[in-house]
Amino acid sequence: MKKLTIVLASILMVNLSIAQQNFHILSADNNIALNIIYGKDGGLMYTVTYKGKLVIEPSDLGFLLQTPATSLTHFDIVSIDSTQFDETWSPVLGEVSRIRNQYKELYLKLMGKKENGILLNVIFRVFNDGVGFRYEFPLQEKLNHFVIADEKTTFKMSGNHTAFWIPGDYDTNEYPYNTSPLQNIDASVSKEANAIAVRTPFSKTGVQTPLMMKTAEGLYINIHEAALVNYPAMDLNLDKSNLTFQAHLVPDAINNKAYLQAPAKTPWRTIIVSDKAANILNSKMILNLNEPCKIKDVSWIKAMKFVGVWWEMHVGIGSWDYSGGQVANVSDKKVKHGANTANVKKYIDFAAKHNIDGVLVEGWNTGWEDWFGNWKEDVFDFITPYPDFDLIELSAYAKSKGVKIIMHHETSGSVTNYERHMDTAYRLMKQYGYDAVKSGYVGKIIPRGEYHDGQWMVKHYERVAKKTAEYKIMVDMHEPVRPTGLNRTYPNWLANEAGRGNEFNAWSVGNMPEHETIMPFTRLMGGPMDYTPGIFKIKMSAYNPTKTEQVHTTLAKQLALYVTMYSPLQMAADLPENYEAHLDAFQFINDVAVDWDDSKVLDAEPGDFIIEARKAKGTGHWFMGAITDENPRSMNTALSFLDADTKYLATIYRDADNADWKLNPEAYVIERYWVDAKTVIKLKLAPGGGTAISLKPATKEDLNGVKKYK
Ligand code: NOJ
Ligand code: CA
Repeated sequence: MKKLTIVLASILMVNLSIAQQNFHILSADNNIALNIIYGKDGGLMYTVTYKGKLVIEPSDLGFLLQTPATSLTHFDIVSIDSTQFDETWSPVLGEVSRIRNQYKELYLKLMGKKENGILLNVIFRVFNDGVGFRYEFPLQEKLNHFVIADEKTTFKMSGNHTAFWIPGDYDTNEYPYNTSPLQNIDASVSKEANAIAVRTPFSKTGVQTPLMMKTAEGLYINIHEAALVNYPAMDLNLDKSNLTFQAHLVPDAINNKAYLQAPAKTPWRTIIVSDKAANILNSKMILNLNEPCKIKDVSWIKAMKFVGVWWEMHVGIGSWDYSGGQVANVSDKKVKHGANTANVKKYIDFAAKHNIDGVLVEGWNTGWEDWFGNWKEDVFDFITPYPDFDLIELSAYAKSKGVKIIMHHETSGSVTNYERHMDTAYRLMKQYGYDAVKSGYVGKIIPRGEYHDGQWMVKHYERVAKKTAEYKIMVDMHEPVRPTGLNRTYPNWLANEAGRGNEFNAWSVGNMPEHETIMPFTRLMGGPMDYTPGIFKIKMSAYNPTKTEQVHTTLAKQLALYVTMYSPLQMAADLPENYEAHLDAFQFINDVAVDWDDSKVLDAEPGDFIIEARKAKGTGHWFMGAITDENPRSMNTALSFLDADTKYLATIYRDADNADWKLNPEAYVIERYWVDAKTVIKLKLAPGGGTAISLKPATKEDLNGVKKYK
């Protein structure tokens, strides 16, 4: 790893005036400027501009401490330093195989005004795609153990931007997205919030990060955080009188925010900005602000596809519990227990036959009778199977078929109980050859008074990432805090849910057709999502004629999601029999990669559409995904990203001409042509539709009888 550190006096412009001092630092491409305004009273503010336009108007920095009771908002400047950095690194798993981390850094050493003398550093990094900054409490005599009452960071917007937002909430990110001007944010009005297990909104004007915005001048702005470790998550509370977002940290039971000991540092606050929406999705700034990989031997960390004894519980035809009552889409009759040995074998057989690496089995262990809504401490032990789940036989069977069973640990929010059982549970996994676990945190947290997104839980999730790594186990968390790029540091932490997944389509008003065009700009900015795409049987009436729920996409769009929703862990979420009925369409899921050498967002607009192409790791095989919201769309896409002088066999999985997410969602067409880098594809997306394309470097035989795309 090459670190280039030069102290650059020249990039630091110091303008002394009578009233205040300003410092500014420019990105390498000169497009982004960070300005620091140091008032004569010791107040410190920052602004961010992009190509001369204000992105962040003068905004505050600082803290209110609970213990010692003091504020850190006015400072003496101890020193200012600036450095630059440029390195290229390779993620263990990722959207691209090489990532450039290039920034200029401004390091401000401050001392709280005379009365407290506390030392605080603020570090700004200016990239070509945005700005990150964090606070550091250095080792010092004036401060040892301390408690944060409030972080005083603000983000003042330059206008009444359009925002893509969900309500700020201490416990959940599973709300549907709203699109509105900042002035119209009303977090007390939430569409279909009832289906979310635990909700703790805190303010009518509170929103979650990653927050996506678009200005009237066409700038795209994203605010989030990076490297959330040992600190609560940051929500944002909007003051409509001055269009200023105030950092709002998730509290604990006694309204403290963070318990720290110097030396300590906060996560990075991130502002990503561009005049092209596609650049927001292409940004790697959040990963770059995270620490390099902490796991020495990464040979066991693998991207994978999986099926699971899972959707059947969500559509209400299989149960988690043994007696058949626990299903998500509730019906009045009891159903079969899903995780029975014969049924699990059916999934293993399907996986073995179709190039699927794993089989998730939920409901295999005792406790499900009690899991939902009881706020009970001892529910699961994570090691005792139900009598009809033959752990030993199934492990041997999976092994003989070359398939991995994926463990499931639903904690029901009883995290103290999970912490007590973690080692035993992971040892059981290793004993029976499981090397990945999906965990879950449905319900109110125990210890009582803690929230999913507070410091205590943030530490728990990191502890799980570290402990699973010690056991060489990969982990996928559901209902954790939303991610902040920690998959760079702990690449075994493959994915998270932490957002409104496809499952909501099975048992609630669901996810509107625009949902998946917003998710990459919001939830996925922090890291991969276990969205569980691939639903072919779109309407729930197929399982129960009285049901009206449905997936709000066409079948072809479900395929495109494997490209537009990045994750190194992708579920083929539907039932094997629904795939058996459409094996020609399933071929795309069979073929699509989950780890990539390259990714290119070709065009995108939050809330409207995304067109993306990715190159599979090590094979030169490209895959494209294009999705639209409720509007049909025709677009031309040049395949200029393909290698010149190579012919590719294009298999196009598109909406049939009469497809429509509501009226005719399962109608698709599959076509084959040969294409090259000069080809322009005419995409025609149905309402709520999509197109998925496999682009395979072709052999002569591949092209026998195949026509050129016109
Ligand atoms: C919620 C998760 O998101 C879902 O995938 C899982 O099936 C249930 N909890 C049960 O753990
Ligand atoms: Ca969930």
